[in-house]
Amino acid sequence: MFALSFVVSVALVPFVAAQASVDIQAIEAHFTQSHVVPDLLASFNPSALLSLNFAGVGNVQPGQKFTKDQVGTAPTVTVTPANSSVVLNGTYTIAMVDADIVGTDLADGENRHWLVNGATISNSVVTTTSGTAITAYAGPGPAAGSGPHRYVVLLYAQPSTFAAPAAFANPGLGVSKMDFNAYVKDSGLGPLVGGTYITVEEGTATVSVPATSAVVTSTLSVASSTKSDTSASSSGSQSSTPTGTSNNTNGAGSIHYQLSGLAAVSSFFLAALFFNRTKKSKVLTGESLRMHVYANTLRQEKQQGGITKKQFRPLLVNAHVTKFHGPA
Ligand SMILES: *[C@@H]1O[C@H](CO)[C@@H](O)[C@H](O)[C@H]1NC(C)=O
Ligand SMILES: *[C@@H]1O[C@H](CO)[C@@H](O)[C@H](O)[C@H]1NC(C)=O
Ligand SMILES: *[C@@H]1O[C@H](CO)[C@@H](O)[C@H](O)[C@H]1NC(C)=O
Ligand SMILES: *[C@@H]1O[C@H](CO)[C@@H](O)[C@H](O)[C@H]1NC(C)=O
Repeated sequence: MFALSFVVSVALVPFVAAQASVDIQAIEAHFTQSHVVPDLLASFNPSALLSLNFAGVGNVQPGQKFTKDQVGTAPTVTVTPANSSVVLNGTYTIAMVDADIVGTDLADGENRHWLVNGATISNSVVTTTSGTAITAYAGPGPAAGSGPHRYVVLLYAQPSTFAAPAAFANPGLGVSKMDFNAYVKDSGLGPLVGGTYITVEEGTATVSVPATSAVVTSTLSVASSTKSDTSASSSGSQSSTPTGTSNNTNGAGSIHYQLSGLAAVSSFFLAALFFNRTKKSKVLTGESLRMHVYANTLRQEKQQGGITKKQFRPLLVNAHVTKFHGPA
C-alpha cells in the first residue's frame, strides 16, 4: 500500500504537467484547423499555454464563440509554461488582431484591437498596467453578416532591443488596420510565447465560410504520449466552428473532452510503469481506458461546477488507487 501511494503521489506530478502540454498541443491544432496558421501566422510553436478569462464568462476554450458584449472588456490573460525550463520573467507585448473569417487572405493587413508593449507576467497573469497601450483593449465588433471572425490573442517576448516602428511609437491609437506581422518583424519582437483565439459573429452570415475539421485532441496527445495506435480521426467530422466551444456537456463535445485527457492519464500510467515495470501488461489494457474516462468525467464535472476544485483532487486520487487495484 505504501508503494502504491508513493506511485500515485509521484505520478500525479506528470499528470498535472502533462495537462499543460496536452492543452498547448490542442491550441496548436485549433490554430491549424481554423487556418489561423497560415492565414495570420506562418507557424505557431508556443512555449506556454495562454488562457483567457472574461468577466462574467469565465475561462475560454480555443475558438469559443461569443457575442461582442460578452468580450467587450479586456480578459485576464494567464500563461502556464510548457515545462520548468520555460522562464517567464521578462517583458512582453500582448496583442489581439482580427484575422477575419476562416480562409481570409490577410495580405491587406488586419484590424488591431489590442496592442500593449512592456507588459510583464506576475503570478502567471499578464499585467499591462505598467506597459504602453498603443491600442488599449477594444472589444470585437465584426460587421453584421460578415461571418464568424477569429480574434487572435498573442503574447510575444519583447527583447531589450525592441523598437516600435514610428507609426506605433505612441499610445492611444484606436482600432485600425495594420500589417501585424511586419510590426512583429520590424520592432524585433519574439519569440511568440503563446496565443489563443475567440470567435465573434454579428448577425447572420451573408458570406460563405469554409468548413473546417474538428480538432480531435486524442490523435495528437496519444500519438506523442503513448505511441498507441488510435483510429480516432477528424475526417467526417465537418464543422464550421471549432470544437470545445460553449457546450461540452453532451455528444461530441463531451467525447472530445474525455479524449483530450488521455495523454495526461496515460502519463500517470507511464509514471507508474517507471516504478513497476512488472505491471505493464495490466496497465496498458482496458483498465487504463476505463480510468481515463472516469477521470475526465470528474474533470468535466469540475469544469461545470458540479464538484469543487477541493473535492476534485481527492476523488481523482481515489479513482486512481481503486482502479489501479480493480479487476480488468
Ligand atoms: C520545454 O518546452 C519548450 C517549449 O515548448 C521546448 O522547446 C523544450 O524542449 C522543453 N524542454 C523540456 C526539457 O522538455
Ligand atoms: C529570469 O530568469 C533567468 C533564469 O532564472 C535569470 O537568469 C534572469 O536573470 C532573469 N531575468 C530577469 C529580468 O529577472
Ligand atoms: C448544453 O447541453 C445541455 C444538455 O443537452 C442542454 O440542456 C443545454 O441547453 C445546452 N446548453 C447550451 C448553452 O447550449
Ligand atoms: C511490482 O508489482 C509486483 C506485482 O504486482 C509486486 O509483487 C511488486 O512488489 C511491485 N514492486 C514495487 C516496487 O511496487
